[in-house]
Amino acid sequence: MFEGIKNLLVNDIGIDLGTMNTLVWVSGQGVVLDEPSYVAINADTGKVRAVGSEAKRMMAMTAERIKVIRPVRDGVIANAEVSDEMLRSFIRRASGHYKIMKPRVLIAVPSGITEVGIRTVKESALSAGARAVRLVEEPFASAVGADLPVEEPDSNMIVDIGGGTTEVAVISLGCIVTGISDINGGDAMDDAIIAFMQKEHKLLIGPRTAEQIKIQIGSAYPLPEPLTLEIKGLDMGNAGDRLPRAVTVNSDEIREALATPVNKIVRAIRKTIDSCPPEIAGRLVDNGITLAGGGSLLRGLSQLITENTGIPTRLGKEPLRSVVNGTGKLLQNARALFGQPQNSLIGNGNRE
Ligand SMILES: Nc1ncnc2c1ncn2[C@@H]1O[C@H](COP(=O)(O)OP(=O)(O)OP(=O)(O)O)[C@@H](O)[C@H]1O
Ligand SMILES: [Mg+2]
Repeated sequence: MFEGIKNLLVNDIGIDLGTMNTLVWVSGQGVVLDEPSYVAINADTGKVRAVGSEAKRMMAMTAERIKVIRPVRDGVIANAEVSDEMLRSFIRRASGHYKIMKPRVLIAVPSGITEVGIRTVKESALSAGARAVRLVEEPFASAVGADLPVEEPDSNMIVDIGGGTTEVAVISLGCIVTGISDINGGDAMDDAIIAFMQKEHKLLIGPRTAEQIKIQIGSAYPLPEPLTLEIKGLDMGNAGDRLPRAVTVNSDEIREALATPVNKIVRAIRKTIDSCPPEIAGRLVDNGITLAGGGSLLRGLSQLITENTGIPTRLGKEPLRSVVNGTGKLLQNARALFGQPQNSLIGNGNRE
C-alpha cells in the first residue's frame, strides 16, 4: 500500500545511455523505453524534429534538410547539446506526467570515462529534470544485470560488447578489480565489413547494410553450414558512373572481414586475465566468462573466446538489456545508493 503511494509520488530511473540504444528502467515498472540513440535535427533551424526510433527512420530522408545525429560516440557523449535533448525527451517519456517529485536517476557510464565526461553526463541528466544523479560503471551494472554474484569474495568476468565499446571487467567484492575499455565493438565490426566490401567486391555499402550482413551471416568461428546473403550497393568500377549492383556474400569471407575487430576483443580479454592477481585469475576458470551487449550475439563468439582463453564462456541473460536491468536491480537499494557521496562511481573501488 505504502509502496503504491510512493510510486505515484516519486520514481527512480535507471538509464543505459548507449552508443546505439538507450534503455530506461522505472521503479515499480521495469524497462519502459528501449530506443535507438538517435536525434533528428532540422538543419536550417537547429530544432529537434524527432528522438529515438522516429529519428533513426528519418536517416534516409536527406532531401528534407534533416540531420540525424548519434550524440553518444565510442561510449561517451560527443555532442552535449544534442545528448541533453535526447535524455530530456527519454526521461520525460519514461517518467510520465503524474509524478509530484522529480526522479532520481542512476546512469551507466563506460569505465574509461574521464572527469569531464562524468561532469557532462551529470549536467545533462540534471538539466533533463533529474533531482539527484548517481553514476555506475557500465560493466558493473552489466554484471549485476546478468545475475553475477558481484558482492561475493570470489571473482567473475563480464565482457559487454556494445556498439561503441567493449568493456572487459573482473569483479570481486562489489567492485571492478581490473578491466579494459576498448573501442572495438559492433561499430568497428560494421566498419570492417564496409572496408572489406570495397576492397574485395569493389562495392560501396552503408553502415545499415554492413550491420545487416553482420547480424544475418556474421560469425567469429567456422559455422557448421556456411550462410549466404545477397546485398546491394554501389559499384565502384567506373568512377563518375556508379550504378547499383547486387552481390552474394558468404559467411566465410565475412568471418575473415570481422577477424581484426574480433581478435582485438579476444586480446583485450587475454590482457585483462593477464593483469589479474593469480588467485583471482584461478577463480575465473571455475566461474567462467559471461558475455553481454548486442555484439555478444555474433555467432560463435563464445566458442572462439573459450578456445583462446581456456575459460568456459557463455552468453548472459538478456544480453541487450543487462546494463539497464542491472541499474534496476541496484535501484532496489536506492536509499543506500543515493546516500553515497555525489562523486562516487558505483562499481569503481578507487573513486569511491
Ligand atoms: N545478432 C547480432 N549479432 C551481432 N551483432 C549484433 C546483433 N544484434 C545486435 N548487434 C550489435 O550490437 C550493437 C549494439 O549493442 P548494444 O545495444 O549493447 O550497444 P550500446 O549499449 O548501445 O553501445 P555501448 O555499450 O558501446 O554504448 C550494435 O553494433 C549491433 O549491430
Ligand atoms: Mg552498452
